[in-house]
Amino acid sequence: MGIKKSKRIRSTKNSKMKVFLVVGGRPNFMKVAPIYKEMKKYPSCFKHVIVHTGQHYDKNMSSIFFKNLGLHSPDIFLGVSAGNHGQQTGRIMIEFEKQLLKEKPGLVIVVGDVNSTLACSIASVKLGIVVAHVESGLRSFDRTMPEEINRIVTDSVSDILFTTSKEAKENLLKEGIPENKIYFVGNVMIDSLYKIKSMANKSGILRKLGITNKNYITLTLHRPSNVDYKNKLVNILDAIKIIQQKIKVVFPVHPRTDKMLKKFRLMGYMNNMKNVTLIEPLGYLDFTKLMVSSKIILTDSGGIQEETTILNVPCLTLRENTERPITVAEGTNELVGNNTKKIISSTMGVLNYDGNYKSSRAPRYWDGKASKRIVKVLKNKINLID
Ligand code: UD1
Repeated sequence: MGIKKSKRIRSTKNSKMKVFLVVGGRPNFMKVAPIYKEMKKYPSCFKHVIVHTGQHYDKNMSSIFFKNLGLHSPDIFLGVSAGNHGQQTGRIMIEFEKQLLKEKPGLVIVVGDVNSTLACSIASVKLGIVVAHVESGLRSFDRTMPEEINRIVTDSVSDILFTTSKEAKENLLKEGIPENKIYFVGNVMIDSLYKIKSMANKSGILRKLGITNKNYITLTLHRPSNVDYKNKLVNILDAIKIIQQKIKVVFPVHPRTDKMLKKFRLMGYMNNMKNVTLIEPLGYLDFTKLMVSSKIILTDSGGIQEETTILNVPCLTLRENTERPITVAEGTNELVGNNTKKIISSTMGVLNYDGNYKSSRAPRYWDGKASKRIVKVLKNKINLID
């Protein structure tokens, strides 16, 4: 790995580097936690500061994850919650910039592809602060997805790009990102998954919901492309109506989806499906237990496609594309879109295979050690500073 001396990193050989670790949305917490814990092992190198933008703020979308992951409360909380994309991104940039000017970190680490990732990377780079992006190079090639815009822009302004797969590096190179900025370190979210999985038997969620191992399907939905349009949401619900006649469905409802189900007056339709259990979003421990024990997961999440690959649970993704093709090539993931018939036939297909669905292998470096690799790169960079 060629490590270049960065002109803009503000630190000296003998002083610790102040590092802002940015979290905003639910999928960020499990990516930041292992990096934070690894950095903590080197107190003479890093002074780490957790900055929470406030993008997600409900207990079940935020604070429970801090508890499950053993993270202390955020050092800085920006308190920017809901809003349209422009409002949310703009307000995070304004509040984050104030903290950058006050605290003067030498490095900002952003993860994933949520609006907080985009906002904080732009605010930092404009002040000449080095930005490291964890999980860079993922591309769905679908620019109607807000996350795709966030990924492209964040990668284009970042100084250090940490990738999870070979394909991600290729995507970055095609976009003209210099090779010496890219580090293939593996999947840091899987570091957290291995840890929480070993604790998942502490969860009483199956008992609480009256379900048993492999006798139910888990459903999660939150993509605007599925839930913000009534006809698309109905397509999916029509499929669930048929599927639940065959097997129980547990549906932790994301706040966006809850809002849209109410707006489109679809709650009654859902409630009439007697074999579907609607629940609040779950914390990390309970959700991991729910995933591990599921017969199948139907989802439009990005992270769940990766987690099911490691857990070897069949995953049917309710999208036409994925920025994580390795989960289809090497894992348990299949893209089924949001066509009613296709969702039903794919689900019945997996149920009828009964145990003979394709099994997965862990992609390279999805081994629980990605955070070690990331911190090693960062330490080397600091050591190169005069
Ligand atoms: C965001 C991310 C998406 C990620 C998802 C995980 C962007 C563009 N999208 O989508 O990539 O997969 O998080 O959940 O950043 N809300 C609450 N309570 C909360 C959080 C949100 O009620 O704790 C409400 C908001 O007020 C808003 C809606 O849910 O109306 C959506 O939240 P938002 O953060 O805008 O986007 P997500 O759909 O959660």
